[in-house]
Amino acid sequence: MIRVCLLAAASIASAMLASCEASPSGPSPAFDRARLRASSAEREWRTYLGDRASTHRSALDQITKENVSELEIAWTYDAGDASDSGGSQLQFNPLVVKGVLYGVSPSLRLFALDAGNGEELWSFSPDTSSKSWTSSRGVAYWEDGDDERILFGAGPYLYAVDARTGREKTDFGENGYIDLREGLGRDVGQDMMGVVVTTPGTVFEDLLLLGGRVNEAAGAAPGHVRAFDVRTGEQRWIFHTIPQPGELGYETWPPDAWKTAGGANSWAGITVDAQRGLAFVPTGSASPDFFGGDRAGNNLFANSLVALDARTGERQWHYQFVRHDMWDRDLPAPPNLVEIERDGERIPAVAQVTKTGHTFVFHRETGEPLFPLREVPVSKGAMPGEVPAKSQPLPSAPPPFVRQGFTVADVSERTPEGHAELLRRVGTLRLGGPFEPPSPEGTILAPGTDGGAEWGGAAWDPNAGLLFVNANQIVSIIQMLEIDADTDLMMTPATGYLFVCASCHGMDMRGDGGSIPSLIDVSDRLGPLELYDIIVEGRGRMPGFGGTLEWWQAAVVAGWVYFADPDDAPSQWASQVEGEATFVNAGYQDLRDSDGVPGSKPPWGTLTAIDLSNASIRWQVPLGDYPVVLASGESGLGAENYGGPVLTASGLLFLAATPDAKIRAFDSDDGNVLWEADLPAAGFATPATFEAGGRQFVVIAAGGGKLRQPSDSRYVAFALPSD
Ligand code: HEC
Repeated sequence: MIRVCLLAAASIASAMLASCEASPSGPSPAFDRARLRASSAEREWRTYLGDRASTHRSALDQITKENVSELEIAWTYDAGDASDSGGSQLQFNPLVVKGVLYGVSPSLRLFALDAGNGEELWSFSPDTSSKSWTSSRGVAYWEDGDDERILFGAGPYLYAVDARTGREKTDFGENGYIDLREGLGRDVGQDMMGVVVTTPGTVFEDLLLLGGRVNEAAGAAPGHVRAFDVRTGEQRWIFHTIPQPGELGYETWPPDAWKTAGGANSWAGITVDAQRGLAFVPTGSASPDFFGGDRAGNNLFANSLVALDARTGERQWHYQFVRHDMWDRDLPAPPNLVEIERDGERIPAVAQVTKTGHTFVFHRETGEPLFPLREVPVSKGAMPGEVPAKSQPLPSAPPPFVRQGFTVADVSERTPEGHAELLRRVGTLRLGGPFEPPSPEGTILAPGTDGGAEWGGAAWDPNAGLLFVNANQIVSIIQMLEIDADTDLMMTPATGYLFVCASCHGMDMRGDGGSIPSLIDVSDRLGPLELYDIIVEGRGRMPGFGGTLEWWQAAVVAGWVYFADPDDAPSQWASQVEGEATFVNAGYQDLRDSDGVPGSKPPWGTLTAIDLSNASIRWQVPLGDYPVVLASGESGLGAENYGGPVLTASGLLFLAATPDAKIRAFDSDDGNVLWEADLPAAGFATPATFEAGGRQFVVIAAGGGKLRQPSDSRYVAFALPSD
């Protein structure tokens, strides 16, 4: 309690201070004032992505196609803790309940604001001492009478915080929080990356249904899905995404995998059909991502949509999108509950968008696919020890919403030098079909590891029968390296270089002969401190890594690079393997030119409207631009984007997500941009819309920090002028 008052004193609000003195246990007067302006439930944004059906939709219609051009900034709240050198981010979709907005800052401080004016009401700081905690995309709200809770995941901890005062609910777990690394049926160690909450859990009755993010390398925690009692924090059920002996799917893994295999986790969020008591759980790939030699079999329930009884966790049906994944094809977003019209009937369906740019549609109750699926063969030539699935399913309809595949004709011609450089690079890589295995020379993956669709997901218009999805159209390179099976893949000096630096400076450390310098003999040119600074802060066209690496990790990599000679380079490791070998991917690489712009032809990002009943694309437009492209005088080429759309009853689609730091309103009928505004930084987040004091607001977290964009810590709310 003392901490709450001190924080309030440090930040703002004399009203809040007064409340600390006057009523030490209840909500503050400012909180009560904000409540007085509250309106009915459908004008709130009570749930991540708008509702548990993940529709991203609001019934509000005060802002219309006619007046949207008059939108102006109504308030701005600066959480004040952006770290530019640290590359901090905000991916948060705010909640608005009874006139109060709940948000999270870049360093994971939870706060409550008066939704009508942005004034801070309270603030709660968990212990955020580790950088490896990834950002928060949302929180969950639950109430029973006076008991109102915010369920807030920060790193490996789930907190229950009083929604009215910002104090921990001490009856939950261990004095207000639980440790998600416990209760998995296996010791997952104390690694802070063991299990981490990014996307919030989904409330159903008095349960919070929750997945989590786990490590993507060998040794990761299992991605079991759980339900926790929102009052006590007790674990009420667990669904084993890596099945145990006697459970369905056990035979799709090696016999002992259930004790050691990791991943198959649901990091994207869970959709709930409350009426049917069904939870739809999208899962990601098994760990490690790109080599499955130790996990022979189809690996159920990785890369699957699993329908569970929300009360018991019992499986109702499932569909696996990728068998024995070798490409990191996680399901990236919670599916949308939709309805499909067929022969005059409305069929309750669930639609899942994918990183490959496809839309799979199933009957909600039976799991029957509502459009025919076809089998596409997996190409030959996998890594030694790998047994790929023979084929993979893809829907025959609706058409994909991003380009499929990549040939030399798809190499960007943005600049002549860039084109030549890219052709040289592509000439060394393996090109092929949609299911081309990873390879030592590097396999082009198109669409890339970041989609297609991403965590922003899709919005659903029940009246028009349209699904709106923003997507990336860039390609990745999966390059495999042979290493000793005993190699510790957690940040050792050499693997640090492999995962963070090799994608540009090369496995042989010799650069690319063009704009990327060789690091061999770098100690002749630079001092060790200079080298350290370049790693942390970047230089010229090289991005800084202060945001991804702890200071000591940067120091360890710097030390290794400083003393390394050509024989130490990863390209030499295979010849040094003495015992058993395995394969790892050399960092996450995208095909880019030396400006950091994608090496495929534009558009690089799009927004698409899909008519689900006709299984056709209604419209598609490029989305956003890269600042370096704008600076060169071009525009309308689209850009990689992160964060989802929000649809209003008046037919407006609000979407930020682009590196050009804009928020836009699109006409949902044709994709025309009806309004756009500049943000203080790129809004890599999903907006929320709500009504407070009779006014409709659209709010977005502008945190930057991705795609080499500057970081910020502001939430910006737009509304029509209050005359
Ligand atoms: C996204 C590509 C990329 C990544 C990843 C990258 N670099 Fe660089 N690096 C570059 C480019 C491009 C330059 C040239 C910068 C300039 O001066 O414009 C550079 C320059 C350098 C230099 C200066 C070399 C000299 O001779 O002046 C050092 C040292 C360096 N990088 C080390 C690293 C280390 C260590 C890592 C991993 C922690 C790393 N880089 C990751 C692209 C990258």
